[in-house]
Amino acid sequence: MSPFVMTRTLPLDATAAALRADVGEGLTRCPKEIPPKWFYDARGSELFDEITLLPEYYPTRAEREILITRAGDIAAATGARTLIELGSGSSDKTRHLLRALTALDHYVPVDVSESALTGASRTLLAEHPGLTVHALVADFQHGLALPDVPGPRLVAFLGGTIGNLRPSERRTFLSAVRAGLAPGDALLLGTDLVKDEAVLVAAYDDATGVTAAFNKNVLSVINRELGADFDPDDFDHVARWDARSEWIEMRLRARADLVAKIPALDLAVPFGRGEEMRTEISAKFRPEGVRRELAAAGLDLTHWWTDGEGRFALSLSTPAG
Ligand code: AVJ
Repeated sequence: MSPFVMTRTLPLDATAAALRADVGEGLTRCPKEIPPKWFYDARGSELFDEITLLPEYYPTRAEREILITRAGDIAAATGARTLIELGSGSSDKTRHLLRALTALDHYVPVDVSESALTGASRTLLAEHPGLTVHALVADFQHGLALPDVPGPRLVAFLGGTIGNLRPSERRTFLSAVRAGLAPGDALLLGTDLVKDEAVLVAAYDDATGVTAAFNKNVLSVINRELGADFDPDDFDHVARWDARSEWIEMRLRARADLVAKIPALDLAVPFGRGEEMRTEISAKFRPEGVRRELAAAGLDLTHWWTDGEGRFALSLSTPAG
């Protein structure tokens, strides 16, 4: 088999159709809402990479610290031959795992972005010539047909991205992952933890305004893809801690009464001054909550690792017997 294969489970126009559906539904609903996956065009991905370097945005650094210190433990606990990474993006943090997983011969990055997959796969192949990379262009939230790869398999979902899902979506997601696991396989999950509100809010409302630009970039995506006429300057970036749901909410707040035209949807969307549109939830977790959600999906938590300051956790779980 050639060392690099790419399988696309999304039709070429699926992304465009999904954006139209999400924007059409989300902007005619009250309150208005756009799902966070539309942040990540080339510019949005660049802005996210900048976010990970901000002094206020601790999750990336905290998770990297755990990966570096625990990669050996993860390798010993799983003996994985295949690493399947959901939402792999630039595969940045994957390096630490690949270095430690000595039995590994297959890497399956799964992402909706074909360009991210091609770039990341090329780099990893150069660094690990013995590795077979089977990139999967897929939206893992909508069912996952894994290629036939050797076990034991380690499924990794890092970065705390599971926090972008609502509790009911997390149940569906974790059950689908569980259904795809065989005995001996494992799930490595990254979860950001509940902490002081000021620390959380600062992470999503940094002093230099990178997160504000990232948030407003979704308007540029809609302008470009759907011909809309949003002016990002008409909106303020809002980041708020919802103590009841224990998640950060990012919103865009209209500075004045305005109407946005979206020609591709034949839609004119009115905003009242001060009206807020939700663009992201980022849930934060407690150890017992993670254990409970995993158990509800048929997964036994076997390992729990945090960074030195207890800000972020990686958990390892296996199919319940
Ligand atoms: C990439 C989803 C983990 O929720 O912290 C960063 C995205 N949003 N700053 C997160 C994000 C605002 C990030 N995830």
